[in-house]
Amino acid sequence: MKQTLPRIRPFKTADLEAIVAILEANGQLVVPAVDGPVALRRVSQLTGAFFLVAELENRVVGMVRGVWDGSRALVHQLSVDPGYQRQGIGSALMRALAHRFREHGAPSLAVTATEKTSRFYERLGFAPTPVVFMIARDIQTVTGEADA
Ligand SMILES: CC(C)(COP(=O)(O)OP(=O)(O)OC[C@H]1O[C@@H](n2cnc3c(N)ncnc32)[C@H](O)[C@@H]1OP(=O)(O)O)[C@@H](O)C(=O)NCCC(=O)NCCS
Repeated sequence: MKQTLPRIRPFKTADLEAIVAILEANGQLVVPAVDGPVALRRVSQLTGAFFLVAELENRVVGMVRGVWDGSRALVHQLSVDPGYQRQGIGSALMRALAHRFREHGAPSLAVTATEKTSRFYERLGFAPTPVVFMIARDIQTVTGEADA
């Protein structure tokens, strides 16, 4: 495997266009209210929300974002430009995020993996745990505002 050493730095607003293009190329921009540009801007402004990008020769080639609430640290999204995958960039982003969380006191780190990505996370030291991930796609079903 060719190891590329990207520069990992905090997100800035000028990265939005490149990141949205990467998420679209990876089929990860399914719900714009959750992962689109407005949400990404909000993530970058929240305390406890970490948002890093990987840059190679001034080109944004990947991003990772996650949250540390003082108790648990969770990776929310990781994405590497399809043209730059398998070069160590995803691992570099994950390590940089883990360092940030660690500096803020996080003892552990969790992520939701799929069958396709579990090998990648296992290589980084993650182990499966028997949980059922559940989602209310419309938050109003939980608040009780949705039509019955
Ligand atoms: C998953 C993802 C972030 C990995 O990023 P990456 O930069 O390609 O990963 P790395 O180069 O650091 O990979 C490290 C190791 O993980 C494993 N790995 C990575 N991608 C893999 C894949 N598609 N299939 C199997 N193993 C994989 C390999 O063991 C790899 O080492 P190797 O290349 O020496 O065999 C990237 O493929 C991606 O963005 N995928 C689409 C979006 C996605 O699924 N994101 C994660 C869920 S939010």
